[in-house]
Amino acid sequence: MFSHDIIKKRILVFGANGMLGQRTIDFYSRMENVQVLGSSVEDEPVYDYADYVQCDITKRDNVKDVVFDFYPDFIINAAAFTNVDQSEIERETAWKINVKGVEYLAEACRVLDVHLIHISTDYIFDGANGPYSEKAKANPLGYYGRTKLASENALKISGTVHTILRTNVLYGIANSRPDFVRWVINSLKNGKEIKIVTDQINNPTFIDDLVQAINKIIEYGKQGVYNIGGRDFLSRFEFTNIIAEYFGLNKELIIPIKTSELKQLAKRPLKSGLITIKAETELGYTPHSIMESLAIMKHELVL
Ligand SMILES: NC(=O)c1ccc[n+]([C@@H]2O[C@H](COP(=O)([O-])OP(=O)(O)OC[C@H]3O[C@@H](n4cnc5c(N)ncnc54)[C@H](OP(=O)(O)O)[C@@H]3O)[C@@H](O)[C@H]2O)c1
Repeated sequence: MFSHDIIKKRILVFGANGMLGQRTIDFYSRMENVQVLGSSVEDEPVYDYADYVQCDITKRDNVKDVVFDFYPDFIINAAAFTNVDQSEIERETAWKINVKGVEYLAEACRVLDVHLIHISTDYIFDGANGPYSEKAKANPLGYYGRTKLASENALKISGTVHTILRTNVLYGIANSRPDFVRWVINSLKNGKEIKIVTDQINNPTFIDDLVQAINKIIEYGKQGVYNIGGRDFLSRFEFTNIIAEYFGLNKELIIPIKTSELKQLAKRPLKSGLITIKAETELGYTPHSIMESLAIMKHELVL
């Protein structure tokens, strides 16, 4: 009897130790027809369920060696300098990782005809009149947003087969730094007062929904720009109260404040959020509601 050798899809995930990177590796490490390799700047992975190779995407030759050696069909770039306030200070580092790194990935992909899937943000917009469609005019308020917009533009002129997924306020389970939901739970469980802004409106994105959207892009081979956001548009204060209510925690500890009171280094888009109609119609993207996402998280959370 002849054996049916499955032609495995080869997927290389950069930023594998980060919040999105981990969840993406976790998802593909369970798929029979996929060979997944994770990569990040650290020497060691934070997970043990898939292969890993160290790579600093700001090092052009490092990128070329890793990409040419694995020869993937798809690259998912979840690597980035994501500290929005620190980006105002460490501008060169943010630019090298968020722009030059993407240029080096695009270059290697173009040579091998690899499809590059890159993650961007609603911070390319100024938050004057969100939510935004894919066609909306970008106007970043801070340096992080400027680097992410520059990364999109670099890809658009790169000649590389690519897809840009814009997302906002990612939350969900990942081993590395706690996401917003776990930060709220941990703070309130320890009786700690938390000051939460009432004037930042967006549609927080359940990380598993973003992973599903990435998989749809790979399945359908879609190119272009897609917004990937949650089903619910609300303020951060409303989001926090829903989390507290769902996990039976003390809402009295949630103090409403304005963004300006935080005196953060980087300005935040206030009336933001991402319209997901295009992803829903072209990819069959079906984002979870916040309540559904919290129910899924509750199963995995060790409270
Ligand atoms: N989190 C959000 O709410 C949000 C919202 C909108 C868009 N996004 C975008 O979504 C993507 C994933 O975000 P995330 O929250 O998962 O980020 P994250 O948790 O901060 O992970 C980023 C990963 O990139 C790695 N990295 C940093 N510099 C690198 C380099 N030079 N070479 C290789 N890897 C490097 C980091 O390694 P270290 O751990 O060593 O730093 C980290 O593992 C990013 O493009 C981000 O801009 C995120």
